[in-house]
Amino acid sequence: MYSSAHSLMQRVYTPLNALEEHAEHLQAQSLSDLIGGDSAAAVQRSNNLAFTLGSLHLDLSKQRISPKTLSLLVDWAHSCGVESKRKALFAGEKVNTSERRSALHMAARWPAHATPPKGMEAAVSFCQHQRARLTAMVERLHQGEWFGASGQKITDVVHIGVGGSDLGPKMISEALADRPSHAYINVHYVSSMDGAQLLPLMERLDPATTLLVLASKSFTTADTQFNVRTALTWLSDALEIDVPTVCRCQLIGVSSKPDKMTEFGIPDAHQLVFKDWIGGRFSLWTPIGVSVAMQLGMASFNALLDGAHAMDRHFLETPLDENLPALMALVGAWNCQFLGISTHAVLPYDGRLKSLPAYLQQLEMESNGKSVCLDGRSVTHATCPIIWGDVGPNAQHAFYQLLHQGGHTISADFVAVAGRDVDAVPDVRDALAAQEQLTLANCLAQAQLFALGDDAIPKALRGHMAQGYRGNQPNSLLMLKQLDAWGLGALVALYEHKVFVQSVLWNLNPFDQPGVELGKKLATSLFNTLTGSDNEQDLVKDASTQQLLRKVGEWRQQ
Ligand code: F6P
Repeated sequence: MYSSAHSLMQRVYTPLNALEEHAEHLQAQSLSDLIGGDSAAAVQRSNNLAFTLGSLHLDLSKQRISPKTLSLLVDWAHSCGVESKRKALFAGEKVNTSERRSALHMAARWPAHATPPKGMEAAVSFCQHQRARLTAMVERLHQGEWFGASGQKITDVVHIGVGGSDLGPKMISEALADRPSHAYINVHYVSSMDGAQLLPLMERLDPATTLLVLASKSFTTADTQFNVRTALTWLSDALEIDVPTVCRCQLIGVSSKPDKMTEFGIPDAHQLVFKDWIGGRFSLWTPIGVSVAMQLGMASFNALLDGAHAMDRHFLETPLDENLPALMALVGAWNCQFLGISTHAVLPYDGRLKSLPAYLQQLEMESNGKSVCLDGRSVTHATCPIIWGDVGPNAQHAFYQLLHQGGHTISADFVAVAGRDVDAVPDVRDALAAQEQLTLANCLAQAQLFALGDDAIPKALRGHMAQGYRGNQPNSLLMLKQLDAWGLGALVALYEHKVFVQSVLWNLNPFDQPGVELGKKLATSLFNTLTGSDNEQDLVKDASTQQLLRKVGEWRQQ
């Protein structure tokens, strides 16, 4: 009697069931017990959870995982077909099913000397052709042979784009062109639709020597179109030269829509094209990165692509249990789906990486912030966590208190840079070297405190030092030997492939963003109302919004 009821109650073995049971078991232990002090077994565990590719090191030893967890997670990945889907991605199959497109951002960084996977060849040759055009433009600028409409040499570039047409290039520029001596030319980024970033630039820059880059995959995004039109009006008025001439001389277009660029008045020679099989948030490697190349030079831009390519090869060729993107994806999915941690902090310990959290917010949340599967069914569990963060050392003085002693469980990626090129600044070399060590020490200390809480304090001292640090905040450390183009390329590609693997685990399409569209339609409708040009297509305005529109109207009349 008991045995038949018992067997009825036994769950069928699936990787998911096994992971759910295992999660219950592991959650009963503290992270500190799991990490296990400094015994030989603990040392062995830490070694087994550390992985290096070139100058990039990934340490998963402060995650709530055991060897069994990893083996169950890898079984799960196998059962979801991660390897066959990885092959399909690189072979240019239409993995973006809703838009019936491939997702071949890897083609944009495939080097000329390496044979591409079968199916990617045409994409690689298209990208190389565009890269040659980009190189020629960059060289023309660096050789002082790019003249504005009034005949003066270009000194400044204003890159206008938003989302994937802004966040990646901006993040790389900040990280690698942190000092004027690192830049061939000044580059400024404008994304916000309100003109707030554009206005001070229009006051400060010389219109005769400023080149605009209009970066927009769709060439329809209102934010970018409005900013560009304002900037062109500024150039035209200040130089007293008509807009079409300014467009011909001082505007580069980067888009997947060459016809629209031509219609806008951008000559073919100043157009850079990428195809719709590269998603906006994966487009940093395409001519969308032209401003980075202009600022840093082709050698650095190519090194960025080489680092990303090294990660592509690693991802494509390495078994899942040693594969950095796959492991990061599995651990991330483990945290949010099985341990119920719905929020993930990105904490760079280097001010030059201040825009990394924003970049990853788009990459991860716009890709996997979905709850309908590829087969149309609803997902019944958590998918992408909320990604957020800030420069770690500054955040220590802002929100870390809650992370150490508040009620929320979070997971985190600490991103550290092991060494800095302090020799380049001989006068303050020693002072900067000390600051570098201080930063690294803070990063390692916080990672330790997140994981261990009060257990980070030796037992003998605990009486008067323990403060009720909660610990049990699992975290990874990503460490770059130095912050250079190669390492940054590898780091960003690591996250891109992580996102892809998670989409396979959750059976989502990471390459579309249908949720963004309705907001744009509603905004157009409200824009019509605000500008007094209502039309029949206008959408519903609820009482709350009507009331706000009335308030705006009242204030405008005062
Ligand atoms: O609004 C979201 C989005 O569609 C992103 O996916 C994209 O990166 C951004 O807008 C900008 O789009 P575009 O490059 O077409 O101007």
